Amino acid sequence: MPKVLVLPGDGIGLEITPEAVKVLEAVLKGRPTQLSFEYGLIGGAAIDAAGKALPDETLAAAKAADAVLMGSVGGPKWDNLPAPQRPELGGLLPIRKGLGLFANIRPIKMLPMLVDSSTLRTEVVENVDLVVLRELTGGLYFGEKGRGTNPKSAFDTLVYTEEEIRRIVELGFQMASKRRGRLCSVDKANVLESSRFWREITIEVAKGFPEVELSHMYVDNAAMQLVRWPAQFDVIVTENMFGDILTDLASMLLGSIGMIPSASLNGSKGLYEPSHGSAPDIAGQNIANPLATILSGALMLRYSFGLEEEAQMIERAVERVLQEGYRTPDLAKPGDTVLGTREMGNAVVEALK
Ligand code: IPM
Ligand code: MG
Repeated sequence: MPKVLVLPGDGIGLEITPEAVKVLEAVLKGRPTQLSFEYGLIGGAAIDAAGKALPDETLAAAKAADAVLMGSVGGPKWDNLPAPQRPELGGLLPIRKGLGLFANIRPIKMLPMLVDSSTLRTEVVENVDLVVLRELTGGLYFGEKGRGTNPKSAFDTLVYTEEEIRRIVELGFQMASKRRGRLCSVDKANVLESSRFWREITIEVAKGFPEVELSHMYVDNAAMQLVRWPAQFDVIVTENMFGDILTDLASMLLGSIGMIPSASLNGSKGLYEPSHGSAPDIAGQNIANPLATILSGALMLRYSFGLEEEAQMIERAVERVLQEGYRTPDLAKPGDTVLGTREMGNAVVEALK
């Protein structure tokens, strides 16, 4: 039986991951593939229990599992620790690196019943269906960093090897060729040497994918274009930090980052987590939106277990629930039925039937 390691983490992670597990169990009920779920600690919860944001047992269990389902990490309680020990730098980044999860997929697809939840006009957002493919184990996040003393200074470095660029860009071409055939590589080649190198490799890789139309865009322009005319994009491939910033921006096209799932992949090995954080301000109140995590569960079935039909069943169940006017508070408008975190999970399970 394939093994899934569940890492709820901190804050609303503790509330949203059980809803995703509940939906995964419901969709697989009576089907040939069953999953076994085990649990582990990451982030602040792991610091409190084991003194370390990514305990060795957690990384070992993640390596031994077929997939990882994660909630979110971090919170004010751990913000005063030295940076390398904090939940983000000491937990999330090392598990991504430790599992070699170089490809982060964040799909941003408008659903007809969410058009009114966007802060942008209907005609701008109604046809949005794009995927951001963010490089996740290199670039500015993982380059050498430090402090100088004389003069006082600080630095982070943005380094990419040819191999690191090639594998993520290749995946971008593969994804684009299965979608609408358009890949936009986002960089800052007018300023950064690493971006000029990224562009060179991308143009080389493109030769193997004549069916895909490749374009290049500077990251500042990409931010503007995502707000001006997001429907122009099919697949976007980009550097780690550029992807971090652009995916938060793009999530608001749908009105809430609580709707955006993510898959971080190294082949079929994957870690699945919502694109949002641990939201300490609303934690423990049963008001967080579990849909990004539930939809991340669907991505797990698709990418780690090849269960496309079951993945689509979850996605359709989520659409049905939204269609019926059920919303968590982040998306609720007058006239909607407001549900709590658990009740939203239950509604998705009901809609599967
Ligand atoms: C994300 C988050 C993380 C990142 C943080 C929590 C370190 O913002 O997954 O987008 O920057 O990668
Ligand atoms: Mg982010």
